[in-house]
Amino acid sequence: MQELIVEIPQRSYPIVVVDGLLADAQALRAQLRSRIHGNQVAIVTNDVVGPLYLEQVMVALDDLQVDVMHMRDGEAAKNLATYEQVMDFLLGARHNRSTCLIALGGGVVGDLCGFVAATFLRGVDLIQIPTTLLAQVDSSVGGKTAVNHPLGKNMIGAFYQPVAVFADPATLSTLPPREYAAGLAEVVKYGVIEDPELFVFLEEHCDALLAKDGAVLSQVIVRCCAIKAEVVSADERESGRRAILNFGHTFGHAIETLCGYGQWLHGEAVAIGMVMAAHLSAQVAGLNSDSVSRLIGLLSKLELPTELDQRSLEVVTVDAMMDAMGLDKKVVDGRLRFIVASEFGEVAVRDDVDGAAVRDVLRQCC
Ligand SMILES: NC(=O)c1ccc[n+]([C@@H]2O[C@H](COP(=O)([O-])OP(=O)(O)OC[C@H]3O[C@@H](n4cnc5c(N)ncnc54)[C@H](O)[C@@H]3O)[C@@H](O)[C@H]2O)c1
Ligand SMILES: [Zn+2]
Repeated sequence: MQELIVEIPQRSYPIVVVDGLLADAQALRAQLRSRIHGNQVAIVTNDVVGPLYLEQVMVALDDLQVDVMHMRDGEAAKNLATYEQVMDFLLGARHNRSTCLIALGGGVVGDLCGFVAATFLRGVDLIQIPTTLLAQVDSSVGGKTAVNHPLGKNMIGAFYQPVAVFADPATLSTLPPREYAAGLAEVVKYGVIEDPELFVFLEEHCDALLAKDGAVLSQVIVRCCAIKAEVVSADERESGRRAILNFGHTFGHAIETLCGYGQWLHGEAVAIGMVMAAHLSAQVAGLNSDSVSRLIGLLSKLELPTELDQRSLEVVTVDAMMDAMGLDKKVVDGRLRFIVASEFGEVAVRDDVDGAAVRDVLRQCC
């Protein structure tokens, strides 16, 4: 078992990582009961994760009033309509201010449930049981909760911290390979932005990671959560340093936008975006070519894309990328914030990167 306390004034909470936790009813009961104070619990999951893991959580809570709601699977369900359904469900089952909401699922369930917890009766306790690697290392840490609006992703939300996060790497055994690899992209990102030793550890444990080795994953998950928690605690409301978590994301988001949602998973677009960010770092921040090659090597070993495929290249042109990143031709002195690395673990947020350097990198990659 590995535990980490996220230090946030008045709302510190533990992230507990235990391989096999869900299958161990006694341990799970002890962990959950130490964080649940009333006798009402509402579990929100979806129709993919529910059939896999709900029963295990139910068994551990057999002495409480437990109500369950299954939401539709997928990003499209992260909206106000589902939010309202969860509210209807909670009010219909007469949940009160001391109820505890449990989010059992990936980042979609976690984000939506978090926003419900922040606003139901002006805030109730929330426990996150993230079941995707992305949720375990990224979305369940940091307190951002949200739903999407037709005019933009995550447009409606709140900062709200859970009372605890319980991550079980064994749940990743059922995760589809692409979803798993997409989570690994964020893991690699933490190595680049903050922790050269983690980067080396990942290089040395590729096979164990691909085999979803529980012990290796537990170590990696805790380390990533510690990095995110540290960055976020220093900067809860995103003014400065939190931006380093977006390494590779300016390029990645532009790729996602241009290719349309559905072609690349977020983590896959971020993997390609990190390679672009590394090339840019080499040009403007002195990142050496060996580091760029190591990043590409690690991502490929982890079965992530490192360049655009033929289909993407039809829409991802240099101009389209510049445009999608807000650096279109009309912006004469186009300046955008880029996260660049001078070496692994040394990143800076720069708003003085020349549009011409970005264009150069894109010419290499598109
Ligand atoms: N709050 C934050 O700080 C933050 C950070 C990053 C991402 N996000 C959000 O997270 C969301 C993406 O999260 P995600 O990648 O976990 O996607 P997701 O929740 O859609 O999960 C991916 C897929 O895997 C399925 N799944 C989940 N756990 C499984 C398991 N153990 N076995 C089999 N299938 C499983 C899901 O049902 C879904 O089909 C996005 O909405 C994004 O905006 C939030
Ligand atoms: Zn990301």
